[in-house]
Amino acid sequence: MTIQLKQVLRMKEGTDETSYVKTSYIQKQVLSLTKPIKEKAITELYYKARPASLCIADLGCSSAELNTLGVVSELIQTIEKARREVGNNGYQQEYQVYLNDLPGNDFNTIFRSLPMFEDKLKKLMGQNFGYCFINGVPGSFYGRLFPANHLHFVHSSYSLMWLSQVPEGIEDNKRNIYIGKTSPPNVVKAYYEQFEKDFSTFLRCRSEEVVGGGMMVLTILGRRSNEPYSKESCYEWDLLATVLNDMVFEGLIEEEKLNTFNIPQYTPSAAEVNRIVEKEGSFTLNHVDVSEVNWNSSEQHKRNHYDFARCMRSVAEPLLINHFDEHILEDLFNRYKDIVRVSMAKENNVFINVTVSLTRNG
Ligand SMILES: C[S@@+](CC[C@H](N)C(=O)[O-])C[C@H]1O[C@@H](n2cnc3c(N)ncnc32)[C@H](O)[C@@H]1O
Repeated sequence: MTIQLKQVLRMKEGTDETSYVKTSYIQKQVLSLTKPIKEKAITELYYKARPASLCIADLGCSSAELNTLGVVSELIQTIEKARREVGNNGYQQEYQVYLNDLPGNDFNTIFRSLPMFEDKLKKLMGQNFGYCFINGVPGSFYGRLFPANHLHFVHSSYSLMWLSQVPEGIEDNKRNIYIGKTSPPNVVKAYYEQFEKDFSTFLRCRSEEVVGGGMMVLTILGRRSNEPYSKESCYEWDLLATVLNDMVFEGLIEEEKLNTFNIPQYTPSAAEVNRIVEKEGSFTLNHVDVSEVNWNSSEQHKRNHYDFARCMRSVAEPLLINHFDEHILEDLFNRYKDIVRVSMAKENNVFINVTVSLTRNG
């Protein structure tokens, strides 16, 4: 991963209204959609391996404790249930939990919520609950993060579409910030090749760290269509590009600045993910699931265009500030909010989630 991107890529830190913690409602919804897949995989793993100390990693955990610690809590509850079912709960199980993200991630927000999390976990699990050791692991998942043969279960959600760098040779992707309708074929090819290289590296690194029979459940923001340019996979960036182009037209942003900005992200199809898993060869694909989540997916509250614009801002702001002047941000996202409102009033906008459940061969 390029040093520069390692330092710049992160979700908006802190806990204020614009932070990732407060705006990541879509990512949370995705985690609940994929819960049955994670439960099935970790139960299967437990029945097979029954390790006295079970090592779990969440890769690309970010700072929203309800998301990442919510997953950890669910996984532990599932294993405790499995332990009871096989009558294996006479001893105290140890859990080693690793929360990984890039060094610039706001780990402190998660760490500060740990006392509450641990307290809740103990209450949920009862007297006989063992130990849950939580560790922060700063570093890129496109390199080695753990000792060999160490992990039993790896989870990652909405992180692997982030590339290790903006693909090279896409200088002619003018007026777009990702794969767009007008992107030349070499741009589409360069994005796919970067994803293939990065995802293969990810699998190779994990193949060293995950024990034989260990499992991974990975959810990637992707697409249903075979076409790399499809509305479901590019539209949120298309709308942002429209706003940036308007601001160039009005002289608020230099054209050259826009032409040299591209998002280091690729939204793969399930077929592309499967192909790379098979080609890399260290993991067996057990299950593929493609689901969708609406941009205005509501939980307790009725969410709206304003929430979606804020959600996108918490994801893209650090990258945008690194490239453009910080002072354009307010104007940019006010315009984005408006264009998203118009779009959401007339269209059904969704994100597509590609989830794969994998077992380490051997
Ligand atoms: C959209 S957030 C998802 C966070 C969390 N999994 C959730 O579902 O809410 C994506 C996270 O992946 C992290 N990420 C991106 N590339 C990474 C890499 N190469 N290594 C580790 N983390 C990475 C980002 O920093 C970001 O925090």
